[in-house]
Amino acid sequence: MIQKSLEGGVSILRMDRADKKNALTGDMYTVMAEALETGNTDDAVRCHVICGQPGVFTAGNDIADFLKYAGGGDLSNTPVLRFLRAIARNEKPLVAAVDGLAIGVGTTLLMHCDMVFASPSAIFKTPFVDLGLVPEAGSSVLGPQIMGHARAFELLCLGETFDAERAEQAGLVNWVVEDVDAAAMECARAIAAKPPQAMAISRRLLRGDRTALNDTIEEEARIFGERLSSPETIAAFQAFMSKKPKG
Ligand code: COA
Repeated sequence: MIQKSLEGGVSILRMDRADKKNALTGDMYTVMAEALETGNTDDAVRCHVICGQPGVFTAGNDIADFLKYAGGGDLSNTPVLRFLRAIARNEKPLVAAVDGLAIGVGTTLLMHCDMVFASPSAIFKTPFVDLGLVPEAGSSVLGPQIMGHARAFELLCLGETFDAERAEQAGLVNWVVEDVDAAAMECARAIAAKPPQAMAISRRLLRGDRTALNDTIEEEARIFGERLSSPETIAAFQAFMSKKPKG
C-alpha cells in the first residue's frame, strides 16, 4: 500500500490505497517511517518524494485504526508516532506532490516538506476540531510559523478548506502545477544532482534547532491520544464509520 522505489538518488514513496482514499494504516506509516529513517544514513538517497494517486493525496489517518486506540489513548509506541518522529527528524530534502485531497496528516505532513507541488484541484483540510481532536505532527507550531496565526487558526481550528491557490498564498505550497508528479520528480532530480553535503548543511541551517518542535509533537500526541477517548471524538468517528450525518 506504499510503493517504494529509488531512481537516480530519489527515493519515491507513493501512497497506494485509492479505494480508501489513501487513508493511512499502521503498516503504511511503518513503511514510510522506515524509508525516512534509513534514508538519513544511506548515501544513495539524496532526496525523498512523497506522492499519492490521481485525485487523492491522502484522506489522513485511517479512522477505523484510530477507533482501536480509543480505549487506551497512549500513542507513543504507534506507527503514526514513529512516522511523525521520522518526518520531523528526516535529514534529506523532502518533496511532495499533491493532487486532490490532502486531509488531516495529509496536510500537516506537508509542513515538514521542503518543496510542495499541488495541482489546481488540490484540497487541504484538517478537520481536527470537528472530530473532537487537536492539531498534530507539530502543526500547532509549524502552522502559525508558515502562514501566521490567523490563517493557521482557519486551517487547524476552524477546519476550513484551503484550495491550491490559498495554500500557495499561505506558504504551504511552493507551486501550483498541472502535473504534480512530473514537477516533483524534476525538482527532486535537481536536488539530487547538487552537492549533498552542502545541501544537507544548508537545509539544517534553514530548519534550525528542532528540539522544541520534537517536544511539541510528543505533547500534541499525548493530548490527541487522550482526545481519542472523548465522547466528541467517538461520536464523530462512529458517525463517519456508519455514514450517519454528523452533528
Ligand atoms: N479512514 C478510513 N476510511 C476512509 C477514510 C479515512 N480517513 N477516508 C475515506 N475512507 C474510506 C471510506 O470509508 C470509503 O470506504 P468504503 O468504500 O468501504 O465505504 C472510501 O474510503 C471512500 O470514501 P468516501 O467517503 O465514500 O468518498 P467521498 O469521495 O465521498 O469522500 C472524503 C472522501 C475524504 C471527503 C471522506 O471520505 C472523508 O471525509 N474521510 C475522512 C477524512 C478524515 O476525517 N480524516 C481524518 C483526519 S484526522
